[in-house]
Amino acid sequence: MDSNYKYITQHHIDGVPHLTICHPMFSAVISLFGGHLVSFIPTEKKETLWLAKQAIRDGSKAIRGGIPICWPWFGASPNWTDIDTQHGFVRNRQWLTTKILEDESEVAINLIPDDTDWPEYYQGINLALTFTFSTQVEIELTTVNNSNKELELSQAIHTYFATEDIDNTAILGLENTSYQDKLQNNKTVLQTGKVFINNETDRIYLTNQESVVLENGNNRMTIAGQGHDSIVIWNPWQQKAKDMSDFEDDGYISMICVEMANTRGLKLSSGQAYTLSQTF
Ligand code: BG6
Repeated sequence: MDSNYKYITQHHIDGVPHLTICHPMFSAVISLFGGHLVSFIPTEKKETLWLAKQAIRDGSKAIRGGIPICWPWFGASPNWTDIDTQHGFVRNRQWLTTKILEDESEVAINLIPDDTDWPEYYQGINLALTFTFSTQVEIELTTVNNSNKELELSQAIHTYFATEDIDNTAILGLENTSYQDKLQNNKTVLQTGKVFINNETDRIYLTNQESVVLENGNNRMTIAGQGHDSIVIWNPWQQKAKDMSDFEDDGYISMICVEMANTRGLKLSSGQAYTLSQTF
């Protein structure tokens, strides 16, 4: 990246290149390990993202918090690959900046993952990530199937939102939507009323609806998306937070993951492009 940008600087944290964007409308930080947004603060507002104090930033492990990009699978590895890693491999890869546009009204940054030595099934598949920042941020993840075969993938924009107090937090807009409860063997359950979190929560809401609202005390923020077939809600709660070495014991009180995802097996024919997005 050349250094002639007005709002953007590149620097290193724990040996990993990062981009910091200081703009009159917002500030943001992207780690090029994982193409991972770790901070987004609209001017005169609070941090929108939760990042673990113990998050490992040196590229040896996926970053805990911010926005992990889960691709080309969400959850456990599919049976056609022998890579055994949850949520795909690009959150553990270096990404490169391919394009930057900046002006007074917005900044757009395009990244692509390092695709050397990809598993054979994913060769010929191109992935691009675009962040468009203003008073909001839009994250677009575009897959292009440039191989000769049909591609099956799953994916998620796995956003950890910061919240003041999980006891005063709710998700609105999922009333009367069914979800698969990962903690009950994927049992299908119908959501009644707002989503409150008062225990370990790991749910896949089966919906492509365009938005939900995060109620955080007296504040409300719209989380919108396109191209998803599911919205995932996750909070590890007390015990699982304790069990994770990169998650502070009381961290579950101040975060909630709301993820736009394709969990149902998305099939892309040869030549097809597909974009999953989230905006907040
Ligand atoms: C969520 C999953 O999306 O991510 C959970 O539904 C998982 O099952 C969580 O525990 C965190 O995953 P990881 O791999 O970052 O620890």
